[in-house]
Amino acid sequence: MGEFKSLEDINLDVVNSYKNSSNNDLWKLNYHIEAPFGLVNDPNGLCYYDGEYYIFFQWNPYGCEHKFKHWALVKTKDFVNFTMPKAVLAPNDWYDKNGCYSGSGIVVDGKLELLYTGNVKDDKGNRESYQCRATCDKEGNITKLGPVIPEIPKGYTAHFRDPKVYKKGDVFYCVIGAQNEELKGRVILYSSEDFKSWKLEGEIGTKYKEFGYMWECPSAFELDGNDILVFSPQGLEKEEFKNQNIYQSGYIIGNLNYDTLNFDHCEFKELDMGFDFYAPQCFKDDNGRNLMIGWMGLPEEEDGHPTRKFGRIHCLTMVRELSIREGVLYQRPIEEFKNLRKELIVDLQNVQCNEYKFDSIRSNSYELLLDLNRIDSSKVELKFALGKDEHMSFKYDFESGIAIIDRSNMLEGDKGIRKFKLLPKDNIKIQMFMDTSACEIYLQDGLEVASSRIYPKEDSFEVKLISEGGSVEIHKAKVWNLEGVKYNE
Ligand code: FRU
Repeated sequence: MGEFKSLEDINLDVVNSYKNSSNNDLWKLNYHIEAPFGLVNDPNGLCYYDGEYYIFFQWNPYGCEHKFKHWALVKTKDFVNFTMPKAVLAPNDWYDKNGCYSGSGIVVDGKLELLYTGNVKDDKGNRESYQCRATCDKEGNITKLGPVIPEIPKGYTAHFRDPKVYKKGDVFYCVIGAQNEELKGRVILYSSEDFKSWKLEGEIGTKYKEFGYMWECPSAFELDGNDILVFSPQGLEKEEFKNQNIYQSGYIIGNLNYDTLNFDHCEFKELDMGFDFYAPQCFKDDNGRNLMIGWMGLPEEEDGHPTRKFGRIHCLTMVRELSIREGVLYQRPIEEFKNLRKELIVDLQNVQCNEYKFDSIRSNSYELLLDLNRIDSSKVELKFALGKDEHMSFKYDFESGIAIIDRSNMLEGDKGIRKFKLLPKDNIKIQMFMDTSACEIYLQDGLEVASSRIYPKEDSFEVKLISEGGSVEIHKAKVWNLEGVKYNE
């Protein structure tokens, strides 16, 4: 690769590609954040700054490979109107020359401070990792300030990245994803009084000594008096109902002792059971909401995404609000998504059936709420993106509580199934967001979520509910057409 383009030139290309974008781009997303070209991965630097949400993300503006990682930025006040994605941070200094890798942001004395990983590789592929400071002004201009954690602590390899900052009392903390010299994944904690100098506190002591070879993208925060550590371990074994993607993202919840760094916690739980979810980041806004955005994609197994043909790949998930009930994290799409509801096209109550076709759904941009009571049914299946010769499906077995997402009947894109366990119940609540080629299914009020990319043909948008073994009651069904978010220059 020769010289990089300037950020201005990249951003001019963005403006032009929005202007020239055609309406028959079937899989262009309406309300999931994506870039008009290149590869999108992890959400970065999420924060609420001066009345606006800043959503940065990893972006290769040059192609669909994991190279040349820049940071891009979109801003929004209301999650309906957004600034156009802009490249704001480029890998053009000695300490980040092979990628401005993931990092985070926090507002300090009215200024947006960023901390990110500068990835450096030599000719032989040896890696170095620098945790770098930068500031961002209200126009999204970033000033780089160089490495503030220039060294990797003793006992760890150069797989040391993704600093996530947060504040507790008067102290700034930052958790960093790491690999120890025995090649086991870990999280390391630093502290700082002023954001300039950082002190190594040590390794967070979890009960997971053997839990994959690398933990990426940690986020640590408090919610209702609980300490939560979200991270993305690599190298876990696949199980029938767990760990079905190449890498995982999940959390542990409990109590972190900041003196001993001992974390007393419950079992690791995955955050999303769909095909496409990784490297989420959490942050708090000024209304005290704990929010999370994930990368709706996974690294390495990426050849199957047909948008590559158009020079782009991947997107971010919807913004989710986190809460805790009985020790479990619940995720709900933030309230603001209600503002995208255009027209209520289905509104049903107490309909008993063995099969129901939602005839008024005529496109793949909608929100569906479905509250089903088992009557004498054993299983329900929701077929969607249903066309002449393809469909996607969600199945729930009332007796076993097993849920299945099945995309093996789709024509384009990767296929396969994802299986996971919900509690066996006589009621299932489904909130599904379909956005042309991105689908998020929130189950049982957000107890489980499944996010997947699917690539239906133009006329594959039908939705049908099928009950096996007997009938179900559609206690409530509502569907809204959703409009897209708007991007302004
Ligand atoms: C996770 C990740 C991070 C890294 C970034 C590079 O997807 O591998 O660990 O900082 O992507 O783009």
